[in-house]
Amino acid sequence: MGDRDLLTIADLDAATLHALIADARAAKADPDALAPILAGRTVLVHFTKASTRTRLSVETAVARLGGHPVFARGDELQMGRGEPIADTARVVSRMCDAIVIRTFAQADVEELARHADVPVVNALTDAHHPLQALADLMTIEERLGGLAGLELAWVGDGNNVLHSLAEAAALAGMHVRIASPAGYAPDPAILAGAQATAAVHGGSVALVDSPAAAVTGADIVVTDVFVSMGEEAQAAEKPAAFAGHQVDAALMAQAKPTAVFLHCLPAHRGEEVAAEVIDGPQSVVWDEAENRLYTTIAVLRHLLG
Ligand code: CP
Ligand code: NVA
Repeated sequence: MGDRDLLTIADLDAATLHALIADARAAKADPDALAPILAGRTVLVHFTKASTRTRLSVETAVARLGGHPVFARGDELQMGRGEPIADTARVVSRMCDAIVIRTFAQADVEELARHADVPVVNALTDAHHPLQALADLMTIEERLGGLAGLELAWVGDGNNVLHSLAEAAALAGMHVRIASPAGYAPDPAILAGAQATAAVHGGSVALVDSPAAAVTGADIVVTDVFVSMGEEAQAAEKPAAFAGHQVDAALMAQAKPTAVFLHCLPAHRGEEVAAEVIDGPQSVVWDEAENRLYTTIAVLRHLLG
């Protein structure tokens, strides 16, 4: 692990966060001007979980920068049959210029980064989703014209997407209010870290006791699925615990009239979000998905440029 990896948003300082968003916005404004900084280079893209947006954005970003993504599912690397992570990291480092990995345990990604000589990018673990948080902040900045001081409401599971979003919003000096059902609050250590970061940057991160308390007066309302990848064993009982935590029009009406709705996708209409919200005028989810490409381009340029 080091300056050359992106394993969590906490790997970034505020200046780098803002620089990545600015670079992503510049790339989006003039995609034809992208220099082929990865010409002749390869990036291993190793996913042991399903993906639409992240796989497409990473492979497209590498290609747009002139490089070649080498995609391998979990069962396609010898690591899936027990080859040590450290040995894999050493071998990949002799051939590829970076590793983008989506898997279950954050500790596995950290071990990979510890033994790799090339940058490692976390494309989602059970604990973090830093690439998503960058796209979310870019989308908010595009739509609302800034970040510092804005109020962000999270309604739902205290999961990987929230962890990274809270860390990023804290670095940007935003105010985050989290309404999660009992037993599904974010990881206490990650929450405490985000709160400490927010305090330095003039923001705040707080747990509140109802979706209404989170959303009232908010500039941004965000949710995610009740059941994440890897939680299939909880699929039967977990949604019941989330009663009252759907973002519907009545809840959205308590946010500012100018509020935007974000969801990393995939979404389950009628569960964590009502169709009237995700398909309604305040939803920015398609821009949010598109911005995954440009923020990933910015990350690759930052780590490999
Ligand atoms: N938001 C997101 O990471 O989507 P995928 O799981 O489709 O990559
Ligand atoms: N929390 C979800 C996000 C998917 C992009 C999951 O981990 O499955």
